[in-house]
Amino acid sequence: MNIVLDQVRKSFRRGSREIEVLRGISCEFPAGSFNFIVGPSGSGKSSLMYLLGALDKPTAGKITIDGQEMSGWTEQIANEFRSRRVGFVFQNFNLMSNLTAVDNVLVPFLPRGARHALRQQAEQMLERVGLGDRLLHKPGELSGGEQQRVAIARALLKQPDLILADEPTGELDSQTGQEVFQYLRELATANQATVIVVTHDASYMQPEDAVHRIRDGQLVETITGKPN
Ligand SMILES: Nc1ncnc2c1ncn2[C@@H]1O[C@H](COP(=O)(O)OP(=O)(O)OP(=O)(O)O)[C@@H](O)[C@H]1O
Ligand SMILES: [Mg+2]
Repeated sequence: MNIVLDQVRKSFRRGSREIEVLRGISCEFPAGSFNFIVGPSGSGKSSLMYLLGALDKPTAGKITIDGQEMSGWTEQIANEFRSRRVGFVFQNFNLMSNLTAVDNVLVPFLPRGARHALRQQAEQMLERVGLGDRLLHKPGELSGGEQQRVAIARALLKQPDLILADEPTGELDSQTGQEVFQYLRELATANQATVIVVTHDASYMQPEDAVHRIRDGQLVETITGKPN
């Protein structure tokens, strides 16, 4: 999926005050690219991720997805986009504590009914992230890294062409974090997905990745290559 942002702005009203959180962001995320968003706390990284995932709307500016302007979308088109094309991976996993690993992977599909074939695919996806022997474990019976791998399997089962990950390794040790990134890269490459990750940790970056630095709601630099 190719994504182009043109002068994207987002403000929130708090009481009588208007807070401008994103202040004219313009950039491109080419199809199949692996991107990092970095910047201080409160700089607008998560707000940007919500806009990219059509979970929220910009106050001004344009977001164009494969040549289509998002602002022209009906709520139904936005729903389809979120449910069929975007894989979300967030820091706190968002797993259902009363469901097994396989059922958690199937959650996005439950409204449409999880057919037998899909359940098999969910099991295969869990095997690909090294959890073949944890299929029937519930989140409370899995380590942090294992839970995040379930979340990645869930995000990728639909074969999204956009993966949005907001601090996906935030609560993991660095070894487990590296593993999570390895799976994310493997599965994203298999799908030729565009990946956009928010992280503070430069050790996950590879030379061919793009790094977009945000400060005070503005894009201050985009570099390819590992920052020092
Ligand atoms: N719904 C909202 N209403 C009002 N202000 C908001 C809302 N969401 C975010 N903000 C404000 O927007 C600013 C940017 O928030 P955002 O969550 O995008 O930052 P961030 O870069 O993701 O930070 P962190 O690294 O701490 O996660 C913050 O000052 C926050 O208080
Ligand atoms: Mg954030």
